[in-house]
This record gives sequence, structure tokens and C-alpha cells, in this order.
Amino acid sequence: MGIKIVSTGSFLPDRVLTNFDLEKMVETSDEWITARTGIRERRISEGETTSDLATEAAVRALEGRDPQEVDLIVVATATPDAFFPSTACKVQAKIENKRAIAFDISAACTGFIYALYVADSIMRTKEIDKALVIGAERFSKIMNWKDRTTCILFGDGAGAVLLKKEDNEGILGFDLGADGSYGDLLYVPSVGSNEEYPFYVRMKGNEVFKVAVRTMVESAKRVLDKSGILAEEVKLLIPHQANVRIINAVAERLGISEEKIFINLDRYGNTSAASIPIALDEAIKEGRLKKGDLVLLVAFGGGFTWGSCILRI
Ligand code: UT7
Repeated sequence: MGIKIVSTGSFLPDRVLTNFDLEKMVETSDEWITARTGIRERRISEGETTSDLATEAAVRALEGRDPQEVDLIVVATATPDAFFPSTACKVQAKIENKRAIAFDISAACTGFIYALYVADSIMRTKEIDKALVIGAERFSKIMNWKDRTTCILFGDGAGAVLLKKEDNEGILGFDLGADGSYGDLLYVPSVGSNEEYPFYVRMKGNEVFKVAVRTMVESAKRVLDKSGILAEEVKLLIPHQANVRIINAVAERLGISEEKIFINLDRYGNTSAASIPIALDEAIKEGRLKKGDLVLLVAFGGGFTWGSCILRI
């Protein structure tokens, strides 16, 4: 028995915010943003809530299947509609499922890999056949649009996968971890803290950058080692889409060549927990992945948290 991703879906809001638009909002330039990050534009919600984005992605991943078949819904998000009910419960209501276990996971940009790990673990030990795992974010609501060091980076969107128990293994291994001592380098305060509203993303980008590269490389190497897979066997590396310089540095250190890296951050920026499932969906729809191909997912985010997953399509 194994757990397999049987279908994927993603949803991006229509509104495009380009680097040129940002030039009119803060002291920045398209040239700086493109050279330092690789990002050219990002999508911004025009009123869709995080659960709306998540639901659209989930419906696409269901591909017409009966939503009642879903036994478990896990949403990774740092920007939920509400403290409670969870975004997963809201998605459940919107797809009119009446019975699934539903909850959210908070692990910032690593959230999707954490959610995949939790769903995979529950499915292996419990009577659960199908699970929706979703990454969904509306970071535009926690941006300080006057802070050029952060507002140029993030965007809104959602991606989803449908997991199913199958005879053959799909998900082959994980490596996950966290180091909370880095918490102050990248965070968004909330009501439990003594910080004053409004609650925006705060980041020491330069320091995050260095730890991100090292940690993603170490995590990816561990998951390959544990699974007995060589980097050259990987058909596609799907990294968290934060910065093209981070992605290229990680791939180079892993010995993965340029044509095996999936990048879409030029169009969407950093969509946090949504970035990997959106990229996975696009990679499959663009024909960059075929049945049997090995895919390496690697993420890093606030916490710090990190996670890697190796899977067979
Ligand atoms: O999602 C997971 C976690 N997040 C990340 O992985 C993000 C990690 N960090 C990064 O991607 C990069 O550190 C940034 C893209 C955020 C910044 O790039 P950098 O090459 O590390 O630039 P820097 O912060 O060292 O800033 C260089 C200069 C500074 O000016 P001075 O001090 O050299 O005069 C900044 O003030 O660039 C300036 N700067 C800008 N200039 C134009 C910072 N932001 C901007 C901007 N436009 N938007």
C-alpha cells in the first residue's frame, strides 16, 4: 500500500501587480526586483478570501469527483480567513462535504510539505482513502505596502493535491524540521503577542537568504539519502518559489541542472504555502512530468521551518 497524488489543481486571482506598478508605490525598480529576486509580477486577490482561493484549487484537483469521497482536508496557510473555524472547515463547507476531518497547519512557506507529511502519516495508519491537501495564501493582506524590502516579494494564490491510497508507492520519503531560535528573522505578529496592530510581514531578508540555501540543500540531501535516490535520478526539482537566486544556489549545490528546475516565481512571486502545489500543478499540466517520474519538493520558511519530499508521479 502507498499514498499517491492522483490529481492536482491551482487557482490564481486575475489581478496582476507588476514590478512597474510597484515602482509607483515604493522606491524600487523593475530592474532591482528582477535582478535580486527573479520576480516580474504577482497576483493579488480582488476580494477572494483565502478559503475562496483554496476552494477553487480544490475543485480543480477533484476533477469532477464527488466531494463526499474526501475523508480528510488539510490546509496549509499563514493567512486564514479566521482564527476559527479553520480554512479547511470553510473549504469543506464550500465543496459541500459533510464528513471529512478538516484542519489547518501553520508552518509558513514550508506549510504544504508539513501538510503533505501529516496527511500521508494519517492515511497510512487510519481508515482514510482520500485526502485533499491544499496550500492557500492571501499575503497581500499582511503586506506593508510602504515597505519595499517585503512588499515586492509576495503574492496570493492556492494549489491543491488529491491523495489516494494505491497499490504502488507515490510518496517515497520526507525530511522535515524546524529551528525556532530563528523566529525573529521572519515573522508576522498576531493577537497573542504584545505587538500593536497592524500585523505585517517582518523580515531580515539577507540573513534569511543565507540560512535558506544551506538548510534547503541539507534537507534535500537527507531525503534523497533516506530514500536511496540519487540527485541525477530526479526528473524535476520543485523548490519553494521565494527567490530565483536561492533556487539556483540550491540546485547547483545538489548537482541538479538548470533544465530540471521548475520556476514560476517570475509570474506569481512568493505565494508562501501555496507555491509548491501551484508549481506542481503547472509542471504536470505543462507536460514537464509524466507517470513514473521522480520529483523532489524542497521548502523553507518562517520558524524557521524546512521540509523536503520525494515522490513518484
Ligand atoms: O519565503 C521564505 C523566506 N523568504 C526568503 O527566502 C527571502 C530571502 N531573502 C531574499 O530573497 C533577499 O534577501 C531579498 C530579495 C529580500 C533582498 O535581496 P538582497 O540581495 O539580500 O538585498 P539586501 O537586503 O542586502 O539589500 C541591498 C540593498 C540595500 O541598500 P543598501 O543598504 O545597500 O544601500 C537595500 O536597502 O538594496 C536595497 N533594497 C532595495 N532597493 C530597491 C531593498 N529592497 C529594495 C527594493 N528596491 N525593493
